[in-house]
Amino acid sequence: MVLYFFCAWVHAYSPLMQLAIEECFSINDIIFANRPLLPSKRISQYNYTTLGAPYGHHWRNLRRFIALEIFSAKRGETSRPLIEVLLNLQESEPEFYTNDVVKGIIQAMLIAGTHTTVITLDSVVSQLIAHPEAFKKASETLRLGLVKVLPAHESSEDCMVGGYHIPKGTQLLVKAWAVHSDPELWIEPDRFKPERFLQSEVQEKGGCKFIPFGLGRRVCLGMRVMALSLGTLIQCFDWEEVKEDQSQAPVKTNPKKAEKS
Ligand code: HEM
Repeated sequence: MVLYFFCAWVHAYSPLMQLAIEECFSINDIIFANRPLLPSKRISQYNYTTLGAPYGHHWRNLRRFIALEIFSAKRGETSRPLIEVLLNLQESEPEFYTNDVVKGIIQAMLIAGTHTTVITLDSVVSQLIAHPEAFKKASETLRLGLVKVLPAHESSEDCMVGGYHIPKGTQLLVKAWAVHSDPELWIEPDRFKPERFLQSEVQEKGGCKFIPFGLGRRVCLGMRVMALSLGTLIQCFDWEEVKEDQSQAPVKTNPKKAEKS
């Protein structure tokens, strides 16, 4: 039997829930690093061999491969297409890099990396154009952003959370939106206030109140790439809103001129 454990399912959530989330992703992090084996994933995720795989040796190898071959500085130097790297590895390590694993890695990059990135960059740019004084504080967009509920985690053993016994096989759904809009954790949570990320407000009340990329071992693999993309957009372009009569092209971007030394 699978039990569902909803953290912060209601809007006004209690400090007990914040504590429960912290416990799930700190002392119980390994236990909740599993993902549920949903029957649909057997088909859509190549028999559970993609990054949505259960926690264990195979998943660790995939994360290591992606960290080294896709997101590392080494990758920037070689600039070989990902598929070429994967096919070479398939020749040298055919037992691990099967056709399903190769397809699964490409799929994960496309599915996990494109929609999230486009939506987030789009809303960062629109919000920041409306609030140009806040250009360097994109985290606020992520707080109010697209991730409403973290993808399901599943416990691989019995454990205790907030003093309650949680059996093996419990699905954990964390409602990130409720955490990000809780008035106990954020001052005026519904307002777009980027300056809160420059003040102590973010550090107050624990480390689990800003979770747009998830938490723990299963934290988003693209987190660093996102930070770099945002940094590049902000550093390399001057963004400005155009006037009403030019409404066909709502945003103008001008590559920044090199500053005179
Ligand atoms: C703003 C953009 C993005 C947001 C908000 C985002 C958010 C998330 C979240 C909330 C999770 C689940 C974490 C958890 O279960 O606790 C996740 C997982 C993941 N993300 Fe992202 N993501 C973004 C961009 C990307 C990009 C650009 C990539 C790769 C190119 C990526 C790859 C992944 C992968 C592979 C996982 C699964 C990790 C695992 O289960 O081991 N994400 N992301």
